[in-house]
Amino acid sequence: MLAEKGNTFFIHTFGCQMNHADSGIISALLQEEGYVQAEQERGAGIVLLNTCAVRENAVERVEHFLQRLQGQKKREKGLIVGVAGCIPQYRREEMFLRYPAIDFLAGPDTYRTIPSLVEQVRRGGKLASLEFNPEETYQGIEPARDGVTSAFVPVMRGCNNRCAYCVVPFTRGRERSQPFNAVLLDVQKLVASGYREITLLGQNVNSYCDVENGYDFPALLDAVSREAPLARIRFTTSHPKDISESLVRTIAFRPNICNALHLPVQSGSSRVLDRMNRGHTIEEYLDKIAMIRSVIPGVALSTDIIAGFCGEQEEDHQASLDLLSRVRFDSAYMFFYSTRPGTFAAETLADDVQESVKKRRLQEIIDLQNHISAELFQEAIGTVVEVLAETESRRSSAQLMGRTAGNRAVVFDRELYQPGDLLQVRITGATSATLTGKPVP
Ligand code: 5AD
Ligand code: SF4
Repeated sequence: MLAEKGNTFFIHTFGCQMNHADSGIISALLQEEGYVQAEQERGAGIVLLNTCAVRENAVERVEHFLQRLQGQKKREKGLIVGVAGCIPQYRREEMFLRYPAIDFLAGPDTYRTIPSLVEQVRRGGKLASLEFNPEETYQGIEPARDGVTSAFVPVMRGCNNRCAYCVVPFTRGRERSQPFNAVLLDVQKLVASGYREITLLGQNVNSYCDVENGYDFPALLDAVSREAPLARIRFTTSHPKDISESLVRTIAFRPNICNALHLPVQSGSSRVLDRMNRGHTIEEYLDKIAMIRSVIPGVALSTDIIAGFCGEQEEDHQASLDLLSRVRFDSAYMFFYSTRPGTFAAETLADDVQESVKKRRLQEIIDLQNHISAELFQEAIGTVVEVLAETESRRSSAQLMGRTAGNRAVVFDRELYQPGDLLQVRITGATSATLTGKPVP
């Protein structure tokens, strides 16, 4: 029998929702082998970092953790440190040389090996398990989940696109999908456990394909929506080039699919989109937005945008600002370009926008988007919106926090409501990121 402390693990998760879902898979795999998830890192015998390599600053955050853990290992004999996910898949065994704290490495396709890596590390040595396995979907593993209201359901993994800046195809490998029936079964189990909202996840959900039965993503979304009495269904991420009218109609016709779409644009300039190898022009993107808004009036749109990609001129940057003003997204994830060794851009294009210029352009993008989001939030004051209550508000136990279908955070008086309740809230105020309101009986 293992010592109690050695038997406990804690996972720090960095990066996207897919990584958060993956941490649930890793946790379930360790628990199956008798390990116990600790409430906090302090005192855990195994510390795992589930990492993201998409931008350099995400990598730097992990580096800081590893430096701290190096000191901790000197004080705590027997502490095991593992690094999982995209960084080890990208940097491979070189990680052991740079960060002596690490005992083992596991990539996105080798989480099943983590319990045995822990056992082998205990016997001595450092180990890496970094093979790609294009068949691996982690089917049959029920991820450990934090919340009780909302759950992620991975439906596909990997990405076959080749966006010039992006490391994901190199870290997560080729696309593969969960069988249609397996997804339906997972969703039904979540409904039986009381979950009210699910988010179907994939690097590129529109590529979902159950080859044997011929189901695509609109068919999956429609089936989940019909068969599961869930309050809300969301999904992410969609590539704009793959958004079809049939998908948009499915969202419009099914009442429990949120009228919200995350549609990363990356740049407002067709010239830059072409260099990025995105597979569409800005006019085609705007046509898709027009189609979506005509089929789903009031749809909440969000996006990702990169400032300062290779060769970006001032007029390209202006085109990105114009796009934001034109579309008026509800929200955006905004980044400056960070070159990723091994990608097409890093190998073939000059990273020629000065860092200070990248940062200035990014700040202009952020300022504009914040202004637009604040205006949209102000416009919501006085309206009545449907909110799914999620948790107690951080400020006061007399208030709950929930979200609108468009994913806006709303803080409202608790009254007799509980997390998991779907209710109508009259919006009475707005800060830059949160709406406040009162339940309408
Ligand atoms: N530099 C900056 N942002 C990036 N993204 C992906 N790769 C990079 C990079 N090299 C952003 C894109 C993507 C989001 C997940 O991260 O906007 O949609
Ligand atoms: Fe990266 Fe493009 Fe794939 Fe998204 S679609 S994961 S940005 S390569």
